[in-house]
Amino acid sequence: MSVRRLAEESVQPESFAFNAANAAWAEKRMALYPEGRQQSAVIPLLMRAQEQEGWVSRAAIEKVAEMLGMARIRVLEVATFYTQFQLQPVGTRAHVQVCGTTPCMLRGAEDLRAVCQRKIHQHPHEVNADGTLSWEEVECMGACVNAPMVAIGRDTYEDLTPGRLEEIIDAFAAGEGASVPAGPQNGRQFAMAITGATTLTDVPKRTSAKTAPARAATPEKAKPEPKVTDKAVNAEAKPAKAAELPKGQLFARPEGAPDDLKLISGVGPVLERKLNDFGVTRFDQIAAFKKADITALDDGLSFKGRIERDEWVKQAKALAKGVDEYVRVFGKQPK
Ligand code: FES
Repeated sequence: MSVRRLAEESVQPESFAFNAANAAWAEKRMALYPEGRQQSAVIPLLMRAQEQEGWVSRAAIEKVAEMLGMARIRVLEVATFYTQFQLQPVGTRAHVQVCGTTPCMLRGAEDLRAVCQRKIHQHPHEVNADGTLSWEEVECMGACVNAPMVAIGRDTYEDLTPGRLEEIIDAFAAGEGASVPAGPQNGRQFAMAITGATTLTDVPKRTSAKTAPARAATPEKAKPEPKVTDKAVNAEAKPAKAAELPKGQLFARPEGAPDDLKLISGVGPVLERKLNDFGVTRFDQIAAFKKADITALDDGLSFKGRIERDEWVKQAKALAKGVDEYVRVFGKQPK
């Protein structure tokens, strides 16, 4: 474990303030706890400060202490204890956290670390020449089955080779990190054996209240439940004329000129192309997405949960009304 101290004074900002959207979020967060227990929000608030600025400065620690009515030293203790908090400036486009614990080490973590040293900086916690990238070695991040792995922001990139990590770093350096699918990088699904499922191979892949018929009241009249496939589930997400859609397209292309989907945080040029290929071209189309649509798109893009986590629908709803609305809702310009 490294010694964790605040960054030197020369890089510390004079002050820190949450932007409007984050300030509103922080108020809601603090209100979740009973009166007098607001300090329970210390970790979420520090993390939100880090997400806003990229790292946790002395000023941010003092601001959080003030908001929660805590002694500064107690917030400092939290910020310096948890390695998730960056105590000095990190790369503006990516901070690569390389897992160096035993399973990842046995599977090639040292080679990944060498890639970071070569492509970013010889030393951890130092930014590269243009300030866009930095790296560090961290302890186990709980993806040992898919070792070796790194984390960048909230995403993990698993089953890595040095070559694949180089490609990922290049994508982030070019500002196209959002186009890199998170998770296993070798075709593995989640943590399943690379050779495919080895258990539960004789049951339907999925069932849902909508697709699985209710059991008949009397056993003799009951009909066997049909097998429900991914295809059937995804069909819910498609419009009525889904069968007429060209191969590979998930949604009917809407009327009107395509929007610049890259304005949605989390969508880069590569992802935009993929969305267009699936028939997704407009903000109002994404704004109207239902759960089944998101599931279909999640499956198509192979990054489960990210659409909801990055709030694509909320972003699209705002962008459909214009940039001003986006700024009002999110407190910042769309990228
Ligand atoms: S050892 Fe690397 S994720 Fe657990």
